Amino acid sequence: MKHLLSTKDLSRDEAVGILDTAAHMAETQAREIKKLPALRGRTVVNLFYEDSTRTRNSFETAEKRLSADVINFSAKGSSVSKGESLKDTVETIGAMGIDAIVVRHSASGAAHRIAHSDWTDATVINAGDGTHQHPTQALLDAYTLRRHLMGPDPLGQDLAGVGVAIVGDVLHSRVARSNVDLLTTLGAHVTLVAPPTLLPIGVETWQCGVSYDFDRTLAEGGLDAVMMLRVQAERMSAAGGGYFPSANEYSREYGLDSARLSRLPAGVLVMHPGPMNRGLEITSVVADSAQSVIVEQVANGVAIRMAVLYLTLTGGQGGAL
Ligand code: CP
Repeated sequence: MKHLLSTKDLSRDEAVGILDTAAHMAETQAREIKKLPALRGRTVVNLFYEDSTRTRNSFETAEKRLSADVINFSAKGSSVSKGESLKDTVETIGAMGIDAIVVRHSASGAAHRIAHSDWTDATVINAGDGTHQHPTQALLDAYTLRRHLMGPDPLGQDLAGVGVAIVGDVLHSRVARSNVDLLTTLGAHVTLVAPPTLLPIGVETWQCGVSYDFDRTLAEGGLDAVMMLRVQAERMSAAGGGYFPSANEYSREYGLDSARLSRLPAGVLVMHPGPMNRGLEITSVVADSAQSVIVEQVANGVAIRMAVLYLTLTGGQGGAL
């Protein structure tokens, strides 16, 4: 695996291999000295054209824990504001001698464009492209599910039989697309829950169930986790808005609050990729409840990103962990 562009590209065994490597990485992070020499002498650039808190900082943490040299590039404050193209930016950064590009971009397909160009020979890892894919987010979500649901020794296991509802703004969500692809590859059953206005055209062809009725989906049972999605107001206003009548109505129909949570078994996990709109798609009480694994998702992101960097850059031959 030279690049990681989409969870669609991962076989069941490749995905389980990444989760297993992440589990080994997580073990190393319990040591007093967390730094590993695996990527010593390699240079990774974090090329971020869109804002990020979790993904960017956890990639940087993962790179430093693996002893890589790190270049952080933000489009804001760079020559992108003077009109420099993606090609010229990649070639300019590439001229400094880099081994990997971690890229976030508002254009769907940007990571694929870089990976399959003659602009660079570097490994490309997609850190989120438009509404298309966010593969490391889906991998950290799968890792979190496996840790909680597949017993004390989940190494080698997939998510066969696990039920996950993904709820909210599916239309604008690269997290939803990446998770549908990955979770189904791993044997989970996924149901998307959203108003018709927030589901993409052609969703009926995806390998998952679709529901417009959150309460009915909760009542039907069979869920091990409920993954709430951020209402992506910035993408909605750019498209003229009008996706739902009001924030209150959206919360009433599709928000996860204490009343809905109380109708779920105590073991059902509450997930959210962040950043959250507290009070819109999820209440603070639910986000901070004992069933919430939202902060743990962030922690698991470091181990997943260490695993992805290690496997793409060394092919798993980076020495003892
Ligand atoms: N989940 C996620 O991608 O968060 P950030 O936008 O903060 O990176």
